[in-house]
Parts: sequence; C-alpha cells; structure tokens
Amino acid sequence: MLARGTIARRTLLASLALIGFPARAAGAGGVDGLAAIGARAGVRVGTAATAAMLASPDLAALAAGQCASLTPELGMKWAAIAPEAGRRDWREADAIAGFARAHRLGLRGHTLLWHRSVPDWARIEPGASWATVAAHVAETMRRYPADEWDVVNEPIEGDGLRASPFLAAFGPGYVARALDEAHDADPRARLFVNEYDLEYASDAQASRRAAMLRLVRTLRRGGVPIHGVGIQAHLAIGRAAFDPATLRDFLAALADEGLAIAITELDVKERDYVLPATARDAAVADHAARFLAVALAQPAVRALTCWGLSDRQSWLAVDDADRARFPGAWADGSSPGFNRGLPYDSDARAKPLRAAIAGALIERSNMGLTRRQR
Ligand code: XIL
Repeated sequence: MLARGTIARRTLLASLALIGFPARAAGAGGVDGLAAIGARAGVRVGTAATAAMLASPDLAALAAGQCASLTPELGMKWAAIAPEAGRRDWREADAIAGFARAHRLGLRGHTLLWHRSVPDWARIEPGASWATVAAHVAETMRRYPADEWDVVNEPIEGDGLRASPFLAAFGPGYVARALDEAHDADPRARLFVNEYDLEYASDAQASRRAAMLRLVRTLRRGGVPIHGVGIQAHLAIGRAAFDPATLRDFLAALADEGLAIAITELDVKERDYVLPATARDAAVADHAARFLAVALAQPAVRALTCWGLSDRQSWLAVDDADRARFPGAWADGSSPGFNRGLPYDSDARAKPLRAAIAGALIERSNMGLTRRQR
C-alpha cells in the first residue's frame, strides 16, 4: 500500500505537469485527491470518461487529480468500435486509453459483450458463428491492455440469464465461453461480470442477486477464469428500500467465492428536484453514504468507479417523468438544472457526495481494511 501511495502521489504530480496545471491545482494544501485517499484504503478510485470530458480542461484536471483509473463510458462498446462490417472507429477509445497512459492511470475495459451494443452486421442470432464474438474479444483486448475488463455486461434478467442475443445464439454457456476467450486474448487481465440492480432490498433485486450468485458459482466450479463481479451502483433515491444487511450478505457471498468486487458505475438519480440545491446535494450524499458504508466495509471491494465526475456530463437526465411529479414547478421559466448525482457540480466544484466518498474511504482505512492487512 505504501508503495502504491507513493506512486499515486508521483502520478498526480506528473499528470498535473503534463496537462499544464501547477502542482497546487489539486492535492495541495494537504487536501488529497480521492485517488490518494482510496489508495490508503486499498480501493482504486476511478471515473467513467468520454473523449469530450477529457477535452474539457476542468474535467480533465479532475480526472487526473482525483482518479487512479478510467473506464470508457462509450468508447469500447462493440457497436461504437465496429459500426459497420470491416470498419473500425478507435478514436473515442484511443483518446481515453491515451489519457490513462499519459497520466499513469489504470484502465477498466468496458465492455465486450453487452446486449445493448451489438452491431447489426455481427448478426448475433441463432445459428451465428462464435468466431465473430471471438474475433471481437481478441481484437479489442489486444489493442487495449486494460488491467480489468467487464467481459459480460448485464447478463441477468428476472431470476436467470437475460434473453439476450448472446443467449439466443449460443445458449447459457456463452458467459463461460466469453470469459475463456478473454483469458486467451490477455491472460494478465482481471475478468469481471458487471451488473445493475443488485443493491436494494426489493424482491426483484433479491431474485437478481440470487441469479448472479448462481451464475458465478457455476463459473467458479467449472474453473472458468472469472476474477470479479462489478456492482454498477446506479443508485436512485426513493425507488426501492435499502437494507444494509442484505447488501452486506450478498457481498460476503461473492467474496466467499474468492471473487474481487468492484463498484463500477456509482451515481445517484434524484427524486425531489424542487428542493434547494443544498438540500438536494445533502440527500444525494446521504443516500450514497449509506450504500458506501456497507460496500466499503467488505474487504473484497477493491475499486470504486463513479459514472462520471461532474453533473455537467452525466448520463442521468431530469426527464419528463421527473417533471410530471411536480406539476406547476418551473412554470416561471426556471429549471431544475442537471441531475445532481455526481461528486462535482456542473462547474466542477466538489459537492457533499465527494465528501461522502472521501469519508467512506477514510472510514475503511480506519477499519484497517487495506490490501496490506488482508
Ligand atoms: C451508458 C452511457 O452512460 C450512456 O451515455 C449511453 O448512452 C448508454 O450507456 N450500464 C452500463 C453502462 O454498463 O455502459 C451504461 O452507460 C449505463 C448502464
């Protein structure tokens, strides 16, 4: 841990120099970036990134100063890389991998097989050839030697495997086949299955947790190369009840399988957009803090990635359903602004969620849950 901390500090200084920021722009005055705070807790802190984000000087400075890893938000998905048969578009992914390299950040590859990003030309349907998937996995992983890969994204639906094109084409063995393929392409990469809606206590999410456990147990027993499970953690205020013991037990069951756990896509969808910004920010931080207190108490959790840093660039929007909950609000032409579910506001100023993340990491350090002690 000490060595890692030293490297993180050097990385921070090097990255600030590279992007032309004086060293005091971040991490100065005794205020550590989340990367350094996370390193002391044995947690690699990261963010999802787009090329547009890294081209914005304020957000690039946050990524370099606060994070130890990047996940491409869009750039490495199959349909983005291979929009047409025989054509490849590596620009977005190259920009993110290049930034990570230049700033000595880790890279989480995201994602190889996802039902929402299958190019039409690949014709993943009954009778399809596995060679198409194998070629995609090998080509992408060899171009981007990421240390972790979300090999299969969102394979669960209801209480079993999702009725995805992959299931239809290749049957339930496709998850194991994809992991084997990924391991062959890059034996050093740590391979993950990544999933959403595993965090809350509802019956629907209980079924999803049970299905995930069945899946990883089958994979582990079969000797399939799976190293971890990604818990997306797209949190949402007021959508479902949160029960600490339920989450704690689920994470412990994953850890008992010998798996690492990564929190891969943390953000918070708000509910009460009519409240003053200070109250909204407090509600977001509070909601995330309850999740993080449980998640970071599990030693197998070694990574925490936010799905973006600034509300200015978040996939969470204030949509029509949100507005409909508050009839008459904003009739004067005002606006709820952005969903405020990321650690920095639209001007890249730290919000209470940033403090909640730092606090949860510090709490974990105080518990002695560093890699060195495990
Ligand atoms: C989302 C991106 O944030 C959006 O910009 C894009 O339009 C769709 O994909 N689960 C995942 C992520 O694993 O890849 C998704 O990212 C969000 C849900």
